Amino acid sequence: MSNLSLDHHRIRKDTPLFARSVYLDAAAAAPPPLPVVEGIASYLKDLSRLGPYLPSFRAKTYEQVEEVRSKAAALIGARPHEVAFTSNGTEGLNLVANGLDWQEGDEVVLLDVEFHSNVVPWLRLERERGVKVRTVTTDGEGMTTAEAVLAAVGPRTRLVTISHVLNALGTVQPVEEIGQALKQIQPQVLYLVNAAQSLGLLPLHVDRLHCDFLAAPGRKWLRGPEGSGILYVREDHLEEIRPTLVGWGGTEWQPAARTLRHPATAKRFQAGLPNIPAILGLGLAVDYANQLGVAATAAQTGALVQQMDDLLRRIPGLAVYGPVQPEHRAGIISFNVTGVDPKRLVTVLAEQGVIIEAGTFMAEVALAKYGQSVVARVSPHYYNTEQDLVRMADLTETAARGAES
Ligand SMILES: Cc1ncc(COP(=O)(O)O)c(C=O)c1O
Repeated sequence: MSNLSLDHHRIRKDTPLFARSVYLDAAAAAPPPLPVVEGIASYLKDLSRLGPYLPSFRAKTYEQVEEVRSKAAALIGARPHEVAFTSNGTEGLNLVANGLDWQEGDEVVLLDVEFHSNVVPWLRLERERGVKVRTVTTDGEGMTTAEAVLAAVGPRTRLVTISHVLNALGTVQPVEEIGQALKQIQPQVLYLVNAAQSLGLLPLHVDRLHCDFLAAPGRKWLRGPEGSGILYVREDHLEEIRPTLVGWGGTEWQPAARTLRHPATAKRFQAGLPNIPAILGLGLAVDYANQLGVAATAAQTGALVQQMDDLLRRIPGLAVYGPVQPEHRAGIISFNVTGVDPKRLVTVLAEQGVIIEAGTFMAEVALAKYGQSVVARVSPHYYNTEQDLVRMADLTETAARGAES
């Protein structure tokens, strides 16, 4: 069934966890494959073997960091100087929110189903800087349209931000259509795409998105290490974003002239020493993703989600939430079973070596569309097999039948 260019046997062997457990929580974080882990370990060993500041080692390390920047940029169709390394997705969103020169009365447009980290930076601007946050109401599946977003854009709108894929429902927003329509009709409005749940899962290209900014962590679908992430800033906006942190890494300071300058590259956001192990791991995760091909990954994961959906819907008393049409959903399925506490289900499955998650997913508005506040969530990735899904569904069915009797 695999369209992937690496064989499934090799993919499974690259992650020792899969010999023991069924892992179905990529939406939280996916286990990094061995090449990522070993690359980081090898760098750390070299640190203690050679010394961080052995000149040749240091020079090579910085070269590698720049190679990773180029690879990460290429993955999203950007140029290296437009990509900054961050520690997570939230940091990138904050760098944009806190870096723009807001005027009282400026407006930000976002969706009612936005994830917490893409709401609070804007709400804080509302509280502290007189910025107005306009919220677009999505449909019953948490989906919006370019028309709905444009209808919320007014003369004072400075920025529109959209999460590509919803973390609780898997809803895929029409981010390319929104970007295209926005730039056609209101080219001065900035567009920030939150790719937290799509980097490594769906093909991304900043030109096709027509976005000015894109933020994402590396640890989810890309399978990079915790503590890795990227922020893309389109070249012509680099100088509009004032670095939140300043220091030796991203600021030129000439004491005699008392001048302070930030380079017109994304390095302006790198105030001090970057998280080199995480960055090197991110680069190896990009290599791994490229070996498979992100388009093939999207197709494979789409097929697995569909299979998972079919299996879950057969279970008595189980309701699946999120888009019905497969093309409107990516990677994530949420559900509940009558009479079964979703958190208890997580524990029961974990005891059997099946890892899923349950919670509010900080997505109260999205879940309220289905009358839910807490749900169970599965997020299969290309490394899962049909047997993984059947095992998860069988255990869930046993829990459902237990609740019935
Ligand atoms: C949709 C969405 N946006 C943003 C984030 C924040 O990412 P991070 O935890 O890397 O800051 C997440 C994390 O779960 C997410 O799911």
